[in-house]
Order: sequence, then structure tokens, then C-alpha cells
Amino acid sequence: SLTRAERTIIVSMWSKISTQADLIGTETLERLFSCYPQAKTYFPHFDLHTGSAQLRAHGSRVVAAVGDAVKSIDNVTSALSKLSELHAYVLRVDPVNFKFLSHCLLVTLASHFPADFTADVHAAWDKFLSIVSGVLTEKYR
Ligand code: HEM
Repeated sequence: SLTRAERTIIVSMWSKISTQADLIGTETLERLFSCYPQAKTYFPHFDLHTGSAQLRAHGSRVVAAVGDAVKSIDNVTSALSKLSELHAYVLRVDPVNFKFLSHCLLVTLASHFPADFTADVHAAWDKFLSIVSGVLTEKYR
């Protein structure tokens, strides 16, 4: 679980992310689909071209869900329980894709907030996103 210092880092970085959440979510998905094209197979019904309305809408939903996790940082499991069921039972997303998405979100954060993205911030967000991913994939087991 996260240390007090890591929680502080996540919450304070989120206050910056939330001001440009849609942009960050969209860029994260654009990076995901261009670097890891296999992730596109889960979205056959989407227009995945850069800047498409569906990509932007979905990017904003994904980042909003990360925000829900930040707001319930002490209880991410219950905050994301419905999403966990969706990804496990309905969407059946291969868990490796969560690592790819988390990586793309980290890269996006680094590029939007270069001065804030110290090694400690990087490490805290990496840990937090692995907790979020763990919650969204735990129902597979
Ligand atoms: C749907 C969040 C990872 C594939 C969603 C929704 C949210 C969400 C909020 C919308 C749920 C709804 O409409 O009620 C997240 C978060 C993730 C994550 C926070 C990780 C941090 C992934 C990954 C994939 C994926 C790695 C596959 C590459 C999908 C698909 C949908 C979906 C296919 C349904 C899209 C649609 O038809 O509208 N996700 N997701 N998700 N997610 Fe994820």
C-alpha cells in the first residue's frame, strides 16, 4: 500500500492533472494505440484516429475513473468495484494491457508536467497505477 508521502504526491499531482484531464486522457489513449496497437482489438466499435470524438470521450472517462481512485485513495477497491466487474466479466481485457496503459499515462504526465515529474513522483504514480490496475484485474482470478 501507499505511504503517507506517496499519497501526498498523488493527491497533489492530481490537482494539476484535473485541470486538463480530458487532454491527458486522450493523449494517453493515443499513445496506447500507437505504441501498443494490439490494445485496439478491444475497441472494434470505436473510431481510434487521433482526436476522434470517441477517443476523447473515452480518454476523459478513463482519467475521471483515475480521479475517483485518487479521491478514495484509502479504498480504491470499493471505489472501482463496478469498473472491476466490467473489465473482468464483460470486457475481458488481458491484464498486460493495464501495464501498457499505465505506462502511457506516466509518459503523458511526464511530458505535461516535466518540472513536477521527479523520480519520486514517477515512482509514486507507478505504484498507484499498479494498485488501480490490480483492482481492475483482480476479479479475473
Ligand atoms: C470502459 C476505465 C483500462 C478497455 C471503461 C470505462 C472506464 C474505464 C471509466 C467506461 C465504463 C462505463 O462506460 O461505464 C479504465 C481505467 C483503466 C482501464 C481507469 C486503467 C487504469 C483499460 C484497458 C483496456 C480497457 C487496459 C484495454 C486495452 C475498455 C473498453 C471499454 C472500457 C473496451 C468499453 C468502451 C465502450 O464500449 O464504451 N474503462 N479502463 N480499459 N475500457 Fe477501460
